[in-house]
Amino acid sequence: MLGDGLSGAGALYRQLAAALSAAVTSGALVAGDRLPSERDLARALHVSRATVVAAYDELRGRGLVESRQGSGTRVAAPASREPAAVTRRLRRGLSAAAVRRFDGAPEGLISMRYALEPGDPRIASALAEVVEEDLPALLDEVGYAPRGLPSLQVAVADHYTSSGLPTTPAEILVTTGTHQAVALVSQLLVERGSTVAVESPSWPGCFDTFSALGARLVGVPMDDDGIRVDRLRQVLAAERVAALFVMPTFHNPTGTLMSAVRRRDLAQTAAEHGVPVVEDLAYSTDLGHRGAIPPPVAAAAASSAGSRVFTVGSLSKSLWAGLRVGWVRAAAGDIEQLGYLKAGADMGTPLLDQAVAARLLPGLPGLAEDRTAVARERLEHATGLLRTHLPAWTWRTPDGGTALWIRLPGYDASSFAQVALRHGVEVTPGRETDPTGAWDDHLRLPFTFEPALMAEAVRRLAAAAADELTGRSGS
Ligand SMILES: Cc1ncc(COP(=O)(O)O)c(C=O)c1O
Repeated sequence: MLGDGLSGAGALYRQLAAALSAAVTSGALVAGDRLPSERDLARALHVSRATVVAAYDELRGRGLVESRQGSGTRVAAPASREPAAVTRRLRRGLSAAAVRRFDGAPEGLISMRYALEPGDPRIASALAEVVEEDLPALLDEVGYAPRGLPSLQVAVADHYTSSGLPTTPAEILVTTGTHQAVALVSQLLVERGSTVAVESPSWPGCFDTFSALGARLVGVPMDDDGIRVDRLRQVLAAERVAALFVMPTFHNPTGTLMSAVRRRDLAQTAAEHGVPVVEDLAYSTDLGHRGAIPPPVAAAAASSAGSRVFTVGSLSKSLWAGLRVGWVRAAAGDIEQLGYLKAGADMGTPLLDQAVAARLLPGLPGLAEDRTAVARERLEHATGLLRTHLPAWTWRTPDGGTALWIRLPGYDASSFAQVALRHGVEVTPGRETDPTGAWDDHLRLPFTFEPALMAEAVRRLAAAAADELTGRSGS
């Protein structure tokens, strides 16, 4: 909630007071919310207690918080307009972090929250072809196509068919990125009070989507083959689950490739319990540690009666997040329902972006090869740096994806993340990846940054780790 509020210059207590006051202004904290005790907040932020005492004093002086004997410190000033519960939740989650980050990071901060990659230069030639060859016909149309541009539906269907999942264009809905794909599928499956099962750890980006609809999240443990189906069975036996969200191909954050056998077990178990599966195949960077990528879970589910699988993906990780082109692959009846939700949301993803995607998608395997080659080099480089400068940090070599899931040696990631911020680098602590806040002995570290930036980031992380180990707190 405090974001990178403690990464700037000046006295820490002032920065802390400013960050808390910003949380009140934004509505992340509202009147009556109780602030942590001075001791707890000092521990969580890895600052001295005196820093928190001084910050709370300043806020009390400004009338923003009030303290009462026995009931701690609470937000005092009623916000001019209290935000709805949904936006309040989002302001505390990853969505708020994304807005903060992409609105502009503080000068000099290296943000390792996202594995940012520049767009593929071949997008320019595809765009030129679209302007030259497709635009005249597109301009003859009205421009609303809620289910998607037909040529892209065909290209996505062919893409899945060639990856072992026979698909027709009627089984494809085009969306604005995987984000919207997950949001629309959630609207179809989830209602207030529903339970959604996710892997633990998982991608915090989807937590906001499920919680905004009022869902409760349950984490299911994983092993090196993917989600543990024995543990999933326990969850499904104990309660009705409205949806199961998994990332079988290069799971975020662990980089695990779910085995073909596990995909089959998962599909069968979900079908037996009548639980719809949402499989996110957004990641394509294959680091080559496990052999070929098995067909999607939807292909394994084809032989299980009663199965219902929504396969979502996008071009964000393979070409450019700026295209904002994604999709859902599901049974034609479900795609029809999703089409109504898509029309209600925005009447369709921009046609020019879809036309560019339709031209690039058929060549995706070749296009992805270059990116994969760079990723492999960068993984080598980053792990070499970490072994030298942070020898006590450990990880399992990811099968694919863009990040390392690092186990820290005896200190909490959320406390470490605060210290790291003060050294000018932002990381995702493990507890953000679990509905209950587990995994705080881990952090997610993207490795795809260009080498000089990665070296500087590791240098700063090592300095932060040295501070963490010596117990040096800021004040
Ligand atoms: C698991 C997962 N799915 C999807 C995405 C990308 O979403 P989009 O396709 O909306 O850019 C991300 C980005 O971080 C992700 O981690």
